[in-house]
Amino acid sequence: MAGKEKDPGFGKVFTPHMLVQHYRNGAWQRSRIVRFGPFTLSPATVVFHYAQEIFEGFKAYRQPDGCVCMFRPDRNLARLNASATRLCMPPVDTKAVRADICRLIKRDRNHIPAPPQTLYVRPCMIATDTVIKVHPSPTYTFFVILSVVGDYFGGEDPRGVRLCTETEYVRAAPGGTGAAKCGGNYAASLAAQHHASRGGFDQVVWLDARERKYVEEMGGMNIMFVLDDTVVTPPLEGGSILPGVTRDSLLQLLRAGRRKVEERCIPVAELVAANKAGRLKEVFACGTAAVVTPIREIMHGKQVLYRNRRDKPGELTMRLRQQLVDIQFGRAPDPFGWRYPVPL
Ligand code: COI
Repeated sequence: MAGKEKDPGFGKVFTPHMLVQHYRNGAWQRSRIVRFGPFTLSPATVVFHYAQEIFEGFKAYRQPDGCVCMFRPDRNLARLNASATRLCMPPVDTKAVRADICRLIKRDRNHIPAPPQTLYVRPCMIATDTVIKVHPSPTYTFFVILSVVGDYFGGEDPRGVRLCTETEYVRAAPGGTGAAKCGGNYAASLAAQHHASRGGFDQVVWLDARERKYVEEMGGMNIMFVLDDTVVTPPLEGGSILPGVTRDSLLQLLRAGRRKVEERCIPVAELVAANKAGRLKEVFACGTAAVVTPIREIMHGKQVLYRNRRDKPGELTMRLRQQLVDIQFGRAPDPFGWRYPVPL
């Protein structure tokens, strides 16, 4: 099952157990840890038709003394409930779920990898009613699976990944579901992603739905720009960007390190001009899966929005990444109280 020495890639290797909990008659039933395996669902199950589904993603890290800590699980579980509200689904009891996830990790403790690999925790909630009228389901299944993961992007070029802006499709509009972690957002991103990969790009950069003028996010992760001496990232207020836990952690680290940080709307035109003037120093992606991934190039149509002309990734990018993973793997103090120990 979980390979210890070979790079497992991302999301392909699962541990032997999973957590399952059903919701019916207005209440969550007793949770159970069962063998990882398929569900039997009617073809009429609501989730197949109307995508009433939400999920989360966070990681557990093997510490130098052999213990295991999750990174900010409460933030992710709070976000799960925010997504649940948006998709008209029942909230979970976050403390009980956190305890259940600890039990699950303990059960599969022999599959927790050594650094730099991690155990990715994937909670998911699906609507299970079998009436194909569009309606909020009265029944749900919540489950959590664990995956042994390595690098999300495969890390072929140390300077990072290549991106292009998406000027036709949009990921999310104000009032939509952009701030919720629901499968539908990811399904809607696939056509653009497919088109971008055919052009040799790893990902797209989504622009705002109204004007296609401002940078939003990368779909599976947030994005940050080092503009002169300031780290700039799009704001969450518009409701169309996923409030990333890694994003929040990096902003806290930067502020604690007295770096100038701005959360503001960022016009593509400003970035193109800043790049031409040599003021756009570094660009990086951040997310649970992506951690902090350097970006080596962004194309906006035929214009270069950013290009790293050195033969290595940006210094601040790599320093931030190191700072974050050192906290996550317990190699550095945890001044923010982000590590949550899993009793094994
Ligand atoms: C994560 O970073 O945990 C996500 O859910 C993003 C997805 C692209 C794997």
